[in-house]
Amino acid sequence: YGKIGIIGAMAEEIDLLHKTVSKTGSFVKAGIEYTEGSLHGHQVVFCKSGVGKVNAAVCTQLLIDAGVECVLFTGVAGAVAPSLNIGDIVISTSCLQHDFDVTPLGFARGQIPYQDVWEFQAAPDLVELASSASEQLFPGRSLKGKVLSGDQFIASRDAVRGMYEELDGACTEMEGASLAQVCVMNGVPFVVIRSMSDKADGSAHVNFADFTVQASVNSHAIIEEMIKQM
Ligand code: ADE
Repeated sequence: YGKIGIIGAMAEEIDLLHKTVSKTGSFVKAGIEYTEGSLHGHQVVFCKSGVGKVNAAVCTQLLIDAGVECVLFTGVAGAVAPSLNIGDIVISTSCLQHDFDVTPLGFARGQIPYQDVWEFQAAPDLVELASSASEQLFPGRSLKGKVLSGDQFIASRDAVRGMYEELDGACTEMEGASLAQVCVMNGVPFVVIRSMSDKADGSAHVNFADFTVQASVNSHAIIEEMIKQM
C-alpha cells in the first residue's frame, strides 16, 4: 500500500500515533486535522475523526481523496461475543450498522434499503495481517468477527444479547461500519481493529472510563506491528 490512512475516534486512540509517526506535514479539512508522516518506512496519514458514523464517514472520504490506498481504524469497543474479556481484540471480518432500522417496511435489521450490500467486508489480507500481529503481541486474546456500529453507546445486557444472537456481532462501537461503507463505495480496502474497553452491559460506563486508555494502547500496538510487517 503506497499510502496508509489511519483513523481513531478519540484523543486516547490518536495521541499514540502522534508519538510514533515521524511527521512530514498536516492539513485541515471539514474542521479535522490530518497528519502526514512515515512509520516503519511507510507513508501514513492519520486523523482523529471524532465520535460517530458521520464524523468517521467524512474523515474516511477525505483520506481517500488525499490518496490513501487502504484505511485502518484503531480504537476501543464494547464486547458483544461472550468469550471476550476487557482488553481483548476484535479484528473486523465485516462491519454492519446495527442502528439502521427500516424493519417496518419489511427490511432486515441493519439492512440499507434498495442496496445489494449492507454488511461490508474487510480486506482479507489486512484481516490476516492484523490477526497475526495481534496473536504475536497478545496470544489467544483476539477474535475475527463482525463489528456492529451505531450512533449509540450500548450499556444494557438485553441490547448486547440481541446483538450477539440476532446479528452475530463480535463487538459494538460507533464508527467502523461507516468507514467500511465509504471504503467499499470507493473500492478501497479496510480493516477495523478494536480492543475491548467494556462489555456493553450495565457496567459499561464505569469500565469504559477505567479501561479506555489501556485498550487504546493495545489497539495502537497492533496497528504499529502490522505496518512494521507490511
Ligand atoms: N465504545 C466502547 N464501548 C462502547 C459501547 N459499549 N457502545 C458503543 N461504543 C463503545
